[in-house]
Amino acid sequence: MASTAANWEFDTWHMERAIDLAQRGEGLVEPNPLVGCTIVRDAETVGEGFHQQFGGPHAEIEALTSAGGRAAGATVYVTLEPCCHQGKTGPCTQALIRAGVARVVVAQLDPFPQVAGRGIEEIKAAGIEVEVGLLESAARELNAPYLKLIQSGRPWIIAKWAMTLDGHLAAHTGDSRWISGPPARQWVHTLRGRVDAIVVGRGTATADDPLLTARPPGPRIAARVVLDSQAALSLDSKLVRTASEAPVIVAASEAAPAENRKRLEEAGCEVLVCAGESHAERLGWLLDELGRRRMTNVLVEGGAKLLGSLLDAGQIDEVHAFIAPKLIGGQAAPGAIGGAGLAWMADAWRLTSPTIRQCGHDIHVHGRISRP
Ligand SMILES: NC(=O)c1ccc[n+]([C@@H]2O[C@H](COP(=O)([O-])OP(=O)(O)OC[C@H]3O[C@@H](n4cnc5c(N)ncnc54)[C@H](OP(=O)(O)O)[C@@H]3O)[C@@H](O)[C@H]2O)c1
Repeated sequence: MASTAANWEFDTWHMERAIDLAQRGEGLVEPNPLVGCTIVRDAETVGEGFHQQFGGPHAEIEALTSAGGRAAGATVYVTLEPCCHQGKTGPCTQALIRAGVARVVVAQLDPFPQVAGRGIEEIKAAGIEVEVGLLESAARELNAPYLKLIQSGRPWIIAKWAMTLDGHLAAHTGDSRWISGPPARQWVHTLRGRVDAIVVGRGTATADDPLLTARPPGPRIAARVVLDSQAALSLDSKLVRTASEAPVIVAASEAAPAENRKRLEEAGCEVLVCAGESHAERLGWLLDELGRRRMTNVLVEGGAKLLGSLLDAGQIDEVHAFIAPKLIGGQAAPGAIGGAGLAWMADAWRLTSPTIRQCGHDIHVHGRISRP
């Protein structure tokens, strides 16, 4: 097809639709990527699909199934390079070839080692016209957590906190219940329901005794992780008492007393001994380990010391901050993010295209950290 502005607009419209479809798999398909697909023949959409469930049919198969015989001679818009390996489902490249499609427009290549350009080559070799790169940056943004896990071996880190208008995470007494209002807290439950792990520091586990579950439940049950060098988490804590309902991982150091580890293990927790001499080294080891477990999205809910360690290490990818119209003051009241911090404003971590909305009486600021 000759490339004209009208064709570009037409193609873009259909790829945008495929990206919208892909988004619907969030929380359901990880560690697989989010993928959407539309099939268009004679300017009519004849098939649509998205990857709906880990281990389930890929987006192309869903779309081909809905198109049936009308896929022959059609154009396929797909947000990620079709797979060419026999994973949990058959190779999508072969299904597209068998269906007799005429053209495949792909937003981005799949860095997954068994695909990585081979999917495109296979379709081209069958005589099908292929174009790559339409809305690539939107597709990359859509699958940023998947791409990070493949490329760095570490999960995508989402930092969430609630703070007063004067920047405090808690009062000087440690009390932080509640800073944000019910709508903000309810919104956080939706986020909890789609992540693989929810992480807090021992200070938060002790001060707040949180449950860290999604209520109501979402599409996945997150492991609840406490960074606790001595494995000193109380057996009476809500986390330990509910260890049979949702996994609890206590990320300890080698210095944790054996009896502490044993009592937590007997109570149903996993005690993960993290390698490293310092908090920072053990945090790096833990992120690698969560990546080895193919966790794609990890939510960190504080406190200030843990968020500080993550920011100092440049490990925060995305932020949800709730700012409550409340003032509490106090030199000793913790700010939102501790750690060593940066020396100069010019070096500040910035959010790319942040969204700012009102959530009940609170302000919700959301964005991804921009990287060079
Ligand atoms: N408003 C909010 O959104 C919110 C959210 C969470 C908490 N809070 C409040 O924040 C306060 C607790 O925060 P916090 O800063 O004192 O404690 P924290 O960050 O929850 O926990 C800090 C502790 O975690 C352990 N830890 C293990 N690895 C670490 C690492 N890499 N970096 C940092 N810490 C690590 C350390 O104890 P060990 O040396 O024993 O391992 C450290 O003392 C409470 O008052 C709580 O109510 C507020």
